[in-house]
Amino acid sequence: AVQPLTDRFGRVHTDLRVSLTDRCNLRCTYCMPEEGLSWLPKPELLTDDEVVRLVDLGTRRLGIRSVRLTGGEPLLRRGLPGLVARLTALPQAPELSLTTNGIGLARSAAALRQAGLRRVNVSLDTLRPERYAEITRRDRLADVLLGLAAAQAAGLDPVKINAVPVRGVNDDEIADLAGFAAEHGYRVRFIESMPLDAQGAWDRDRMVSADEILAALGERFTLEPLPRADNAPAEEWRIAGTDSRVGVIASVTRPFCGGCDRVRLTADGQLRNCLFAAEESDLRALLRSGADDDAVEAAWRGSVAGKGPGHAINSAEFRRPDRPMSAIGG
Ligand code: GTP
Ligand code: 5AD
Ligand code: SF4
Repeated sequence: AVQPLTDRFGRVHTDLRVSLTDRCNLRCTYCMPEEGLSWLPKPELLTDDEVVRLVDLGTRRLGIRSVRLTGGEPLLRRGLPGLVARLTALPQAPELSLTTNGIGLARSAAALRQAGLRRVNVSLDTLRPERYAEITRRDRLADVLLGLAAAQAAGLDPVKINAVPVRGVNDDEIADLAGFAAEHGYRVRFIESMPLDAQGAWDRDRMVSADEILAALGERFTLEPLPRADNAPAEEWRIAGTDSRVGVIASVTRPFCGGCDRVRLTADGQLRNCLFAAEESDLRALLRSGADDDAVEAAWRGSVAGKGPGHAINSAEFRRPDRPMSAIGG
């Protein structure tokens, strides 16, 4: 039997989030500046072979059972369906999901489903085209809506929407987004914004809290609590009288670090034991130095062994991680 990937708090890690690129085709104002960031040069990115090797090792030797592909924007990765097919073909194939901004999903959803992708989470903060263009600095709302529909038609199930409300920007659309999702059979989750933007502009006063999100939803819907899935970041409710659900990911006001089951691999092959980790483990250097599986496994276990209790966003000692969310992987 595989020895579980545990830390000193007894948390068992079964979920791996793999960033496939730090690039993005949007410029969300709460994420990065208009000019973009200094992207990683291609040779620094893990190759498909390297990603496959690490996921194979994680699933065979460390008990990883689910893998979420993220970015940046993972659909920008060349040949993504091919990579998905290789991961699906592994002997201990993990459950595979993708977090995307949805642009290009209309074109690729069927191929991704065919290759073995199971689920997709699509970022969408507004239903108004002008507002979408203001938030993301690109006029692409129509593409995202086509992407959502294509994902559903391709059999990706469930299709989730991630929405980050920002005060004074889109906080008046919380109930509208929930209504839209319910009407189309998508599941929406509202996310408290975290201090992970590249500009360092996060401001607690502009973050919309879970309590406020629930108040906004409560004005239009009656919500019935659903049992929380093990270690899930989202708390979920059923909209009474329907089979639609809405969720809240309250990373800041209701932290869920105590049940965290995830580790992350950045696009340049650094293992991070937490979104907010102060240190990374350089698995890419190990792979490229010819390390065998035992050495990679030991480095991976060592990284998880050093995992801290959780983020300290609410404490005076809080320090931002040295990379923004787009470079870590959402
Ligand atoms: P599901 O498997 O569909 O529940 O995916 P998910 O919600 O874990 O993944 P997704 O990529 O859709 O992430 C949604 C949001 O959850 C992110 O934008 C983050 O705000 C938050 N999130 C994901 N992972 C972590 C984490 O490890 N710590 C914290 N604090 N927040 C996280
Ligand atoms: N805080 C919380 N969520 C964020 N996202 C991007 N930046 C932040 C942030 N600072 C969301 C995106 C996407 C998900 C992967 O992360 O909207 O849905
Ligand atoms: Fe791109 Fe996601 Fe950042 Fe928006 S939040 S700029 S979609 S990486």
